Amino acid sequence: ALPPLVDAFQRRITYLRLSVTDRCDLRCSYCMPERMTFLPKKEVLTLEELYELATGFIARGVTKIRITGGEPLVRRDIIDLFTALGRRIGHDLDELTLTTNGTQLATHAEALAKAGVKRVNVSLDTLDAAKFAELTRRDALPQVLEGIAAAKAAGLKVKLNAVALKGVNEGELPDLIGWAHGQGHDVTLIEVMPLGDVEEERLDQYLPLNDVRQSLESRWTLKDIAFSTGGPARYVEVVETGGRLGLITPHTNNFCAGCNRLRVTATGQLYPCLGGGERVDLRAALRSDNPEANLETALNEALRIKPEKHHFRMDARGADPAVTRHMSMTGG
Ligand code: GTP
Ligand code: 5AD
Ligand code: SF4
Repeated sequence: ALPPLVDAFQRRITYLRLSVTDRCDLRCSYCMPERMTFLPKKEVLTLEELYELATGFIARGVTKIRITGGEPLVRRDIIDLFTALGRRIGHDLDELTLTTNGTQLATHAEALAKAGVKRVNVSLDTLDAAKFAELTRRDALPQVLEGIAAAKAAGLKVKLNAVALKGVNEGELPDLIGWAHGQGHDVTLIEVMPLGDVEEERLDQYLPLNDVRQSLESRWTLKDIAFSTGGPARYVEVVETGGRLGLITPHTNNFCAGCNRLRVTATGQLYPCLGGGERVDLRAALRSDNPEANLETALNEALRIKPEKHHFRMDARGADPAVTRHMSMTGG
């Protein structure tokens, strides 16, 4: 058997975030500019290559795969990849899941469930249609709500992701949480991160979640709980709703010591850290004359260079953009 993935800080890697496209049908203002340049399709790995890559990670002990984008469901035939990987659940894979903006979920929820997906993370920053249209630059809230309902109907557990933005959805967060919990969904709040030029000043919108937590506590009782999905969120229970609320706080509470993940772009570039620029080219390894050996070497290199922590900062010197690559390249 191949050696497990353990980095220089003795962190064991069991979670792969695999981006299948950099394209998206929305234009969230904290993620990309309106006129975003996407990669030529020939640069992107084929579905067969993505499967082969996933297999290489599984062989080294990855047990959880999250498909990301861009928006993964805009990629043609993407369900085929879910179906192929889904066959391994219960054998050498524990969890197969995805992060989606929800616009295509109504079409694909049942197929995803059938492939073996048990839960989905859906981005939803606001329940106000006008605000949604402003924030994502597309008038798609009804479609997303339909998608979320379809996921629930298909038996998928839904977690909603909301990036907390000062002066944008700040005042609405309690209602968003209340609505989600009423529907039986978990919610995670996220501190905005400075990735890629979005032609806007993200620092102005940065809202530390410590402050949000404090203001939520004037309405609700929040109880720390040990629940974990193996991601960076720390969870609390909202006692009054009985629902779970996750907090992803790269700035106010660093979670890097427990990092168990690696991320790969749609072109097969492995970024050991979301907040770093260093990468390893897995596509070159895959397309070489000895893919297995070269993939093993490339993964070892990634483990060697994985940094101890990210260096994002949200102050006048550290923000916008700390990393030139957009979030839609690595899918978070
Ligand atoms: P689960 O815990 O499995 O539900 O997944 P997740 O919350 O890790 O995944 P999701 O794709 O929903 O991401 C939520 C947010 O966490 C996104 O903003 C990601 O960018 C962020 N995130 C995930 N992993 C990391 C990480 O290693 N570092 C940082 N800074 N952010 C991360
Ligand atoms: N900072 C924090 N979160 C972001 N996301 C996209 N861009 C950013 C950013 N700059 C979120 C999306 C999605 C998840 C994958 O990452 O809202 O839920
Ligand atoms: Fe698309 Fe997600 Fe980026 Fe929004 S955050 S533009 S939904 S990739």
